[in-house]
Amino acid sequence: MQRRSFVTASIATMGLSLTRHGLAAPVAAPAIGSLGAGQVGSTLGELWIRSGLHVMFSASTLSQPRALAASLGPLASAGTPEQAVAFADVILLAVPYGAIPHLAPRLAAAMAGKILLDATNPYGGRDGAVAALAERDGAGPTTQRYFPGARVVRGFNALSMSILRREAFRPSPRLAVPLAGDDVDAVATVETLVRRAGFDPVVTGGLDTAIRFQPGHPGFERQDDAAGLRAALSGRD
Ligand SMILES: NC(=O)c1ccc[n+]([C@@H]2O[C@H](COP(=O)([O-])OP(=O)(O)OC[C@H]3O[C@@H](n4cnc5c(N)ncnc54)[C@H](OP(=O)(O)O)[C@@H]3O)[C@@H](O)[C@H]2O)c1
Repeated sequence: MQRRSFVTASIATMGLSLTRHGLAAPVAAPAIGSLGAGQVGSTLGELWIRSGLHVMFSASTLSQPRALAASLGPLASAGTPEQAVAFADVILLAVPYGAIPHLAPRLAAAMAGKILLDATNPYGGRDGAVAALAERDGAGPTTQRYFPGARVVRGFNALSMSILRREAFRPSPRLAVPLAGDDVDAVATVETLVRRAGFDPVVTGGLDTAIRFQPGHPGFERQDDAAGLRAALSGRD
């Protein structure tokens, strides 16, 4: 047996898996740190808490995260963005896209090696110059530039939170959630989070493919099951 597969198999028996950085990271039950406690942070955080995961919420000030955590029970907590990053195996990016240039200098170093699940969307009128970059180059590669050491996965950005709240765990076929990322282990971990939240993941490929499901592109706001979403993203429907 090759060394990597041997170590992977050994760690897998403990419910862990290797990352490309050689670190052991929990896959089955990652701790989540949410940057943002608004629509996206609260919707996804609640779904993951219901599935048994620990979630720490953060925002610019502590009042909103504290109130949210108090409403969600013992698996929820509140902290500063720095505390949420330190707490997490997976950091949910759930802030306006325009906040990224302000957060990155504070948080990028602490995110090195961690999974950054980017659920944001860039809008030129709201988010300023960084949105123009993300609309041109794709939000995935643009977010990655701000957090160079993080293992960025784009996901949960394509559908409104009111739809996700309504459709989670619907009878088969489940609603599909598109994902993209360059790090296969990080993508696999986020696929698990999609299933735990009550949806089916559809992986489009590397981070550059995430543009297919950002605003203005065919996969954005597409409500479909996995087969239908795959067909739409490949241009076959
Ligand atoms: N709502 C949806 O259905 C939906 C669906 C898919 C994707 N998205 C995208 O997801 C992102 C978040 O959307 P949302 O609807 O959740 O927005 P929201 O309800 O306005 O919540 C934004 C959260 O980010 C926090 N925040 C803002 N600036 C911050 C900063 N500099 N540092 C730390 N926290 C900050 C806000 O709290 P403070 O202001 O107190 O800091 C708030 O908790 C956006 O990019 C949006 O386009 C939204």
